[in-house]
Amino acid sequence: MNIVQDSEIMDYKGRDNLLSERVVLITGAGAGIGRAVAIACAAQGATVILLGRKVPRLEEVYDEIVNAGSPRPSIVPMDLEKAQGEHYQALVDALESEHGRLDGLVHNAGILGERSPIGHFDVGTWQRVMHVNLTAPFILTRCLLPLLQTAKDPSIVFTSSGVGRRGKAFWGAYAVSKFGTEGLMQVLADELEGTRPPVRVNCINPGPVRTELRYRAYPAEDRDKLRKPDEIVGPYLYLLGPDSEAITGQSFDCQPPASAPDTSKRTH
Ligand SMILES: NC(=O)c1ccc[n+]([C@@H]2O[C@H](COP(=O)([O-])OP(=O)(O)OC[C@H]3O[C@@H](n4cnc5c(N)ncnc54)[C@H](OP(=O)(O)O)[C@@H]3O)[C@@H](O)[C@H]2O)c1
Repeated sequence: MNIVQDSEIMDYKGRDNLLSERVVLITGAGAGIGRAVAIACAAQGATVILLGRKVPRLEEVYDEIVNAGSPRPSIVPMDLEKAQGEHYQALVDALESEHGRLDGLVHNAGILGERSPIGHFDVGTWQRVMHVNLTAPFILTRCLLPLLQTAKDPSIVFTSSGVGRRGKAFWGAYAVSKFGTEGLMQVLADELEGTRPPVRVNCINPGPVRTELRYRAYPAEDRDKLRKPDEIVGPYLYLLGPDSEAITGQSFDCQPPASAPDTSKRTH
């Protein structure tokens, strides 16, 4: 297996039009990290499929991409908490008829739930977080795998977290869902190793990033010290483009530990 260090790809830029002719679906593309990744992929020539709950947000991203002269994206309104079999099938059918394949799948949508001890954790919130963060990416992957296997150089990227690698008090379902995400990535990467075409499967931990989810987790921290979403897109571009050929089953960090603010002991 080829190994790449996080530091080698943290500031990855890639050549111009790195992702031209690639179709990349990004979940949670209307805000935060997903928005930045979608805009960066489009700027590198990808046709991006913007999946999310809130259509006005997706439309804003759509306009920004079109106004920048990048390939025209598509919008897929989908609530991953509520989506049923027919919604997933409609997505597969639309992708198949419009593009005939899928080159990249970025599982980015996620929710924090509540921060509370396990002994008091609300069961409904637990199920909701596990569903949006872990089960929905599993279902989406299962449905889209045949279309990914029609592409020449397909790549799946999962989004993890520091608390998905080392458990921390009060992170409850969010942390456990991210442990599950790392596990799903490893199981899938192992299953797909050596298949043709080789679908690579990897995880990214964005580190502390200035987004709504981060504000909810750390309402008192100094937001100006956090990196903005568009400053951490390098590893996503790397994993979606041809330079990461044969890189699979790995977990990457977007930021060195030292760049975390004072709260870094609670890396998220
Ligand atoms: N920010 C950080 O410091 C940090 C650190 C480590 C890991 N992460 C991970 O990075 C990913 C992105 O987080 P973020 O910080 O960018 O969060 P964010 O700004 O809150 O954005 C979350 C995105 O997920 C989407 N989403 C949430 N629930 C959804 C649902 N039921 N169906 C469809 N889409 C849904 C939202 O869509 P709508 O806008 O349509 O609601 C939004 O676009 C998450 O997986 C998170 O766990 C973030």
